[in-house]
Amino acid sequence: MTMRDKLALLEQRRAESELGGGVARIEAQHRKGKLSARERIDLLLDEGSFTELDRFVVHRSTDFGLEEQKYYGDGVITGWGRIDGRQVYVFSQDFTVFGGSLSESFAEKIVKVMDLAMRNGAPVIGLNDSGGARIQEGVVSLGGYAEIFLRNTLASGVIPQISAILGPCAGGAVYSPAITDFTFMVRHTSYMFVTGPNVVKTVTHEDVTMDELGGADTHMMKSGVSHFTYDSEPECIAAIRDLMRFIPSNNIDEPPRGAGTDPRDRRDEALLDIVPDNANKPYDMHDVLRRIIDDGEFYEVQREFAENIICGFAHLGGFSVGIVANQPAMLAGVLDINASVKAARFIRFCDAFNIPVVTFVDVPGFLPGVGQEHGGIIKHGAKLLFAYCEATVPKLTVITRKAYGGAYDVMSSKHIRGDFNVAWPTAEIAVMGPKGAVEILFRKDIVGSSDPVAATDKKIAEYVEKFAHPYVAAGRGYIDDIIDPRDTRPALIDALESMRGKRDKNPPKKHGNIPL
Ligand code: HXC
Repeated sequence: MTMRDKLALLEQRRAESELGGGVARIEAQHRKGKLSARERIDLLLDEGSFTELDRFVVHRSTDFGLEEQKYYGDGVITGWGRIDGRQVYVFSQDFTVFGGSLSESFAEKIVKVMDLAMRNGAPVIGLNDSGGARIQEGVVSLGGYAEIFLRNTLASGVIPQISAILGPCAGGAVYSPAITDFTFMVRHTSYMFVTGPNVVKTVTHEDVTMDELGGADTHMMKSGVSHFTYDSEPECIAAIRDLMRFIPSNNIDEPPRGAGTDPRDRRDEALLDIVPDNANKPYDMHDVLRRIIDDGEFYEVQREFAENIICGFAHLGGFSVGIVANQPAMLAGVLDINASVKAARFIRFCDAFNIPVVTFVDVPGFLPGVGQEHGGIIKHGAKLLFAYCEATVPKLTVITRKAYGGAYDVMSSKHIRGDFNVAWPTAEIAVMGPKGAVEILFRKDIVGSSDPVAATDKKIAEYVEKFAHPYVAAGRGYIDDIIDPRDTRPALIDALESMRGKRDKNPPKKHGNIPL
């Protein structure tokens, strides 16, 4: 054969590899509202930037007639490319080849890109669409999964790892995403479960649909397994590209600067009127955040899970920051199990990747109740405390209203290495709210008085005067200043600028023992 003949053969085989499990199966994907594995890569990466590896790899199995069924690539497309010019590594599982199930060769391909990503300090993005372990390969497939899980774990905190769930991901196909930093799902086409509805029916006799068991809304609102939910794959993939605007490529890199033009010294008049005069009235903390961050652009994480705490990324004067904020509009912004776990994980991501944490506080305390206590609010609340305490990135705190009790300590207080802690004049920093405090401290006096209502009101007024303001904390230096709310943006940006060179370290250790 001449060189030209050989090139023609190469082209023919390349063309074959482009088709995965074949045209009919690709069409079946499209009918389900799903894209093919290659179409997903095209949407994810900058045009023309994809370099594919291992396109000719095939499986080595000979059982169950598999030797007769070989597909180039063996059900996963791997390689590298760029997002807005930045290097990333990708794998895209191809449901058209054995349901995207994981074989030995399939695992080796993923392991290869993960190792490259680690060596080169770039994120790994996994587009998952897989029926789990390739059943015909048995324990060899399980071994392949374990090799991936190990790398996910070792890469955690070194390079960002992002997972999109774009099909029915079962068994081993969900544990790798679970170790990664962020999980994206699409309504009505993506599912995550350890065992599907049929197995559930057999074992527990529960009737449940795919959506109810492991759909995108379930994992966003109930389980908290996923971080982002979208209505279509193109929206989901666009959101992954967008996330990259806030996160660095690795743990020794700086996060990218925002491209916005919002003036650094911009004051916002409306901030004067957002917090109601009545301390028991709710307001939407999003309104506060949007008026402070660059161009009001907030990339919210787990928006529909534990809505009593808000987590997300933004730019402030171009600096990428992670924002954690109590949400008075939901359960009065109380800290419960889900809110604690959600925020703790987010803070640990930010700390691992050099993203300063800006905390907005309006919190009445931890949620009381038998369900919370028996569910372990002590250990889950401690996760949030632990995450804030161990974080060494710049930590900035704005107390807008209530900072009561243990929640005051937890929410990035000065005592746990807050770098810049300020309060608005509306702040109330105390062990508890006036009514609760008076009922405990003066119960006997009030019961014994001739007019208990008037006696209670008098004591509440005394307590408010003494404690329901920021001046006691400011008098001790627990907050650095009391600021005009309109100046919050310039004050935070100035503080971030001043902390660019921050160096802080935790004591040398193998690792801490976060209360899991
Ligand atoms: C081999 C598989 C497969 C698998 C699907 N296929 N899953 N082949 N191993 N795990 C094949 C099917 O035989 C079929 O081949 C094609 O993929 C498409 O599958 P369908 O069932 O037709 O598709 P659909 O109806 O959409 O259902 C998708 C599915 C279902 C929900 C994922 O296929 C399913 O339940 N699969 C098994 C899931 C599972 O139990 N996996 C093992 C988990 S144990 P043809 O040739 O007909 O196109 C595990 C252990 C790891 O993962 C644990 C680590 C912690």
